[in-house]
Amino acid sequence: MKYLIGNLKMNLSYLESQNYLNELQSLNKIKNFKNVIIGAALSFDAMSLSLQYNKRNFLFGVQNIFYKEKGAYTGEVSFRSAVELNIDFVLIGHSERRKLFNETDQLINLKIKQIEKTSIIPILCIGEDQENCSDKVFEDIIKNQILKALEDVDVYNRLIISYEPTYCIGNGKIPQNYHIEKAISVIKKITNNQVPVLYGGSVSQKNIEKLLEIKDLDGFLVGGAALDAQGFLEMGSIIEKNN
Ligand code: 13P
Repeated sequence: MKYLIGNLKMNLSYLESQNYLNELQSLNKIKNFKNVIIGAALSFDAMSLSLQYNKRNFLFGVQNIFYKEKGAYTGEVSFRSAVELNIDFVLIGHSERRKLFNETDQLINLKIKQIEKTSIIPILCIGEDQENCSDKVFEDIIKNQILKALEDVDVYNRLIISYEPTYCIGNGKIPQNYHIEKAISVIKKITNNQVPVLYGGSVSQKNIEKLLEIKDLDGFLVGGAALDAQGFLEMGSIIEKNN
């Protein structure tokens, strides 16, 4: 079984999200994958649409969440709403959150600890910034991100990790398969082989077949190429065919 998760980022308005989900639901019904779990991470404005898709054939996620129950945190959204709205998964620590909104490993850890108390799946995003750094540097970066994010956390039964080297996001560039394989082996080792590992960064219909050759890869987190529901599910067909 492999995951194919779309991160729609801030690309769709509320109504566009609704149209997208309608299309996703009906096309996914036709596809009827046996070996692919489809998911979509929506922006907060579309979060309540989850209630309209009670009987859905995809995982409904959001791209961020705050760790406090309630209080004076202007502009934040409480995990309590995610629970009430039956959200299936939350992206935590995406590189855009780290870079543009200064999210630290410590904040990411607090968010994961809070999610741990719910039945929501946290998808922890990690990855190095520098291209061509030595194996040791790159391994230390991702190990460090994982150890800090998971300090005092015990969600291995639900946690998913997405490896996303930031220099491959949104630009059509992908690392060599052996580099992703190396990242997967580091992540699996540090999490006692208990956590599914996804790859994210410029995944498309053109390169997904080659990426499927990667050993121990459990799926993909897709940005730009997920925005067209039909094209997104075509990637699901390629995964299904190659399984
Ligand atoms: P792109 O697929 O657009 O490179 O985005 C990847 C990503 O950020 C997934 O979280």
